[in-house]
Amino acid sequence: MKTTISEVHKYVDQEVTIGAWLANKRSSGKIAFLQLRDGTGFIQGVVVKAEVDEDVFTKAKSITQETSMFVTGTIRKDERSAFGYELAVANVEIIHESVDYPITPKEHGTEFLMDHRHLWLRSKRQHAVMKIRNEIIRATYEFFNSNGFTKVDPPILTGSAPEGTTELFATKYFDEDAYLSQSGQLYMEAAAMALGKVFSFGPTFRAEKSKTRRHLIEFWMIEPEMAFYQFEDNLKVQEEYVSFIVQAVLDNCSLELQTLGRDTTKLEKIVAPFPRISYDDAIKFLHDKGFTDIQWGDDFGAPHETAIAENYEMPVFITHYPTKIKPFYMQPAADRDDVVLCADLIAPEGYGEIIGGSERIHDNQLLQKRLEEHGLTSDAYKWYNELRQYGSVPHSGFGLGLERTVAWISGVDHVRETIPFPRLLNRLYP
Ligand code: 4AD
Ligand code: MG
Repeated sequence: MKTTISEVHKYVDQEVTIGAWLANKRSSGKIAFLQLRDGTGFIQGVVVKAEVDEDVFTKAKSITQETSMFVTGTIRKDERSAFGYELAVANVEIIHESVDYPITPKEHGTEFLMDHRHLWLRSKRQHAVMKIRNEIIRATYEFFNSNGFTKVDPPILTGSAPEGTTELFATKYFDEDAYLSQSGQLYMEAAAMALGKVFSFGPTFRAEKSKTRRHLIEFWMIEPEMAFYQFEDNLKVQEEYVSFIVQAVLDNCSLELQTLGRDTTKLEKIVAPFPRISYDDAIKFLHDKGFTDIQWGDDFGAPHETAIAENYEMPVFITHYPTKIKPFYMQPAADRDDVVLCADLIAPEGYGEIIGGSERIHDNQLLQKRLEEHGLTSDAYKWYNELRQYGSVPHSGFGLGLERTVAWISGVDHVRETIPFPRLLNRLYP
């Protein structure tokens, strides 16, 4: 029976054939242990000299790393391994021999691994991270679909700049100027007026000259937008959504979390509701902690966010930022004009901001004023203004950065390991 490693639990004590690659190998005179991978998982193949043909044992002992093959053998329960099964190998049929595979089991430097990202992805650790990424995406669709949201796909080529004009990738759209999308938000606002509750999932681009463990040039964002939702309603969706994806990873990726050495007791604590602190109080807190480098009106840097997050075991919402450091579209607070109805969600353990969101301005005149203040007077925003002319309603939404969320839940240090082919400052290869 031809099968995959992910399905072997169905074939205990039966003979199966698996298409696989050799990840690693140990052998002695009498026995060879083949660490096999087939993309769906990892399993140990055991080749016992006394139990197979002479030439099978000789072949097994000499297989090189990443050689592809069909392996035939019997599936056995194996309580000692985390996976729970092993393969008692009867035969090996080589498909393609791999010579001098560059990524050996020894340590390699980051630049070397990044240059070989197309191969590095095959490693057990990278496999685990990609599986967790996939589970977060799967759970995202489940959460929003089961809560009455409709998936809507905003365009990638746009004429507008929701998050400010300094970090745009400009291109030509025939004779017109165009940009790669920084955020689908403005289009999602239009979609929310048509479909009520919507979410998007797609790539976004920021020409940020930042070289930190939290910044990618191309990253994927989940952007929900809800008509008639106000500030409080928005936070509730966020804390329920984040709790849901953490729980989904705990439920469905226990082997991957174990491979990564993730402390799951920290994840088990992530249950809505999440704590909140206002920007005003966060500034006071930082001053009490001895941060003299930040004043009311400044944006937080990574060390500030980390200091605030260290106070909590859960993600924390920082709310009501100064109007002047946030984008043009945010609704001011009812009682004061100098802060807006927004919140950033800061992950625990120093992973930084994973969500930015807000209530949106729904008054046409105020929006017009803000667009002018931000120098966004081009025709590209005409349609956005029209959303406030025909039955405008309060509405809110947010954007969750997938890679930072994967980094946090996986316990991976740097976002470069959380996306298959990271686009970083000075890196477009592979
Ligand atoms: O806070 P941001 O810039 O918010 C927006 O783009 C809103 N328009 C979203 C919305 O309300 N629909 O980005 C949202 C999230 C951040 O919290 C962060 O997780 C992630 O996107 N992000 C990045 N992730 C990796 N690399 C970067 N350069 C990122 N910039 C933002
Ligand atoms: Mg932000």
